[in-house]
Amino acid sequence: MNEITVTMVDGGIALVIFDDPERPVNTMTPDLLIAMENQVVPLMDDPEVKGLVFLSAKPDTFIAGADIKLFIEADDPKLVSEIDGAYSRVLSRLFENPKPLVAAVHGAALGGGLEIALACHYILASDHPATVLGLPEVTLGILPAAGGTQRLPRRVGLVRGLDMMLTGRRVRAGRALKIGLVDEVVTPEGILERAKSVAGDLVHGRLKRPAPRKALLDRLIGLPFVRSMVLGKARKTVRQRTRGNYPAPMRILECVDLGLQKGVDAALEREIASIGDLMMTPQSRSLVWLFLATQDMKSDTAKGRPASERMAVVGGGLMGAGIASVSLGRCPVVVQDISSEALERCSGQIKAGLARQARAEAVTPEEQERRWSTFTTTRDLSEIAGADLVVEAVFEELSLKRKVLAEVEEQVGPEAVYGTNTSVLGISEIAIGARHPERVVGMHYFSPVHKMPLLELVAPEQAAPWAVDKAQAFGQAQGKTVIRVKDRPGFYTTRILMPYLREALFLLERGATIEEIDGAMKDFGFPTGPLARMDEVGIDVAAQMSRDLGEKYSQRWGPGHDTLERMVKANFLGRKNGRGFYTYPAKKKKQKKPNQEIYSLFPERQAGTRDPALLRDTLSLTMVNEAAHCLQEDVIASPRDGDVGAVLGLGFPPFRGGPFHHADDLGLETIVSRMETLAEQHGPRYAPAQMIVDMERQGRTFFV
Ligand code: COA
Repeated sequence: MNEITVTMVDGGIALVIFDDPERPVNTMTPDLLIAMENQVVPLMDDPEVKGLVFLSAKPDTFIAGADIKLFIEADDPKLVSEIDGAYSRVLSRLFENPKPLVAAVHGAALGGGLEIALACHYILASDHPATVLGLPEVTLGILPAAGGTQRLPRRVGLVRGLDMMLTGRRVRAGRALKIGLVDEVVTPEGILERAKSVAGDLVHGRLKRPAPRKALLDRLIGLPFVRSMVLGKARKTVRQRTRGNYPAPMRILECVDLGLQKGVDAALEREIASIGDLMMTPQSRSLVWLFLATQDMKSDTAKGRPASERMAVVGGGLMGAGIASVSLGRCPVVVQDISSEALERCSGQIKAGLARQARAEAVTPEEQERRWSTFTTTRDLSEIAGADLVVEAVFEELSLKRKVLAEVEEQVGPEAVYGTNTSVLGISEIAIGARHPERVVGMHYFSPVHKMPLLELVAPEQAAPWAVDKAQAFGQAQGKTVIRVKDRPGFYTTRILMPYLREALFLLERGATIEEIDGAMKDFGFPTGPLARMDEVGIDVAAQMSRDLGEKYSQRWGPGHDTLERMVKANFLGRKNGRGFYTYPAKKKKQKKPNQEIYSLFPERQAGTRDPALLRDTLSLTMVNEAAHCLQEDVIASPRDGDVGAVLGLGFPPFRGGPFHHADDLGLETIVSRMETLAEQHGPRYAPAQMIVDMERQGRTFFV
């Protein structure tokens, strides 16, 4: 039951307080709609009420938007549009009423929550890091449909409004003030008093409703050619980014355009009509599933379990610095490295990260200072004594990793867990000879650590459950989504990536071009194609990984392709030296061009395999099949973990939900038949995993 409490205060100001006692955050639900209709709308006609202030009683959320958990149950587009339409009309009624409405935003005002604020005439925001404002609907495959597509651009301007709606970008209070999204920023403690006083001033004419600040472009937006220029550019960007895979952004643009041409009312009706359809799309279903799955995974270990009291990172390179940087604020962190230059770079990286967070208002300047004061570097390993979690992030070299582990064990106490950061080396192998192998786990972070949301936690058989739990709790405290995987070569993410990358080489050999292969997978929805990806990783690194894993799975994967080795010999190292599958001009590395010299490394290159659909199928099914092998061997615990891991760790297209959802969508029968055909034509490595074959026979799917 959603609750709104209305309290009258001096001067005829009604406080409308949101507080849903049954949910951790306030969300927009059908119950809230009823409360708005019954308790808030009548205030517009109540002569005792002169003005209204909207606020939340929750500690750190205003309103977190629609209740996403209800999206899963929605199966009738008309009903969705009807409920949304009722919300939209309530908000229009509020916005158009002559009494001043003030929103006092402390905490997250997202989606429908921001739309409530946008229906007010004055918005105050607290200068607290928890205060974020945004319309993230597009990230769930839907659109802001309670006036958001109309009122946001009218407040912040067309270009900024489009950017926020098309990316789902969230802004904090200071930025919101700068762009005109809010009218004033105040302290969390002072927000209520200030809101009441603003409402009073508006009632008595001591303060005027602020007019939207218009950039020059927005003043010219009435001119058809300016409008079509701005929207045309936005459409082009959307097409480039989505490659037609996501319908929501175009619907957002449609509503914005309609509002400018035919007026707000027509556009509001279009919003309402669109939301029902969009919520039923497979894209939205997958995105919503992913949101809920990652939320679900937060409670996989006991929430609140103490994570770490003092952490040490051994190895101050890029990864080590990244790991330290996401740990600051949770506990004191010491980074150890034998090289003072590395430590200097590491400190610089940490400082820059803190400054970036402060600029984004994710931390206050005081918190930035505090975090910095809990960070130290040292060349002396004895200074890590006292750490109860040590993350080692040295080079991917077995003997080095073993040596570091032995040295660390000399220094730390019995409560210390040791996490080794590796994407490919076996954890049990690293732990051979360790004094306490039961405390050694794998912590596979992804680069750049502050941006990549996944942590693959490798739990070898000998690891003590408490040690694995502790590492997991720490990963979660760092804000990572954690999947637990078994200690098998390549774990999960590297293992499913490698056959996919190797497959790209076979397809090159079979006649496809660099652009065709990468283009096919970008059309499929990956942010980069497999060949460009190898360039990013480094051809030498990719060659080494392919060799190592290829040996371990040689029985099934068959002989690998030696092109990568030949590329290394020919000094084609990828992006880092400007020469790989692409060439990268020294100054404008983004303007890469397919490297024609690569074809000469394929003396037996055939003509054929140029059909984009076949390329997409071959590459994506290779990954899906390896994911099924991982599930079959219990490397991952569930299709859920496999899907979340592939999306968050490898950029598997989120709108497809992950390899297991994709398998279900295609149909296991189709997969078996396509893979068997490939196996007949090109060899046994394409044979479908036994699990897929069995499930297909039994008529089962990965998800019900
Ligand atoms: N619908 C349903 N539940 C929601 C929700 C929403 N819109 N937003 C948050 N929650 C739930 C979470 O699932 C979690 O539930 P749990 O404790 O039962 O696991 C709880 O609220 C707290 O969320 P959490 O993400 O753990 O807290 P946080 O403080 O880190 O972040 C938010 C809070 C609101 C910033 C974040 O949850 C968020 O971004 N939510 C999504 C908002 C959104 O996309 N809204 C648009 C809907 S159209």
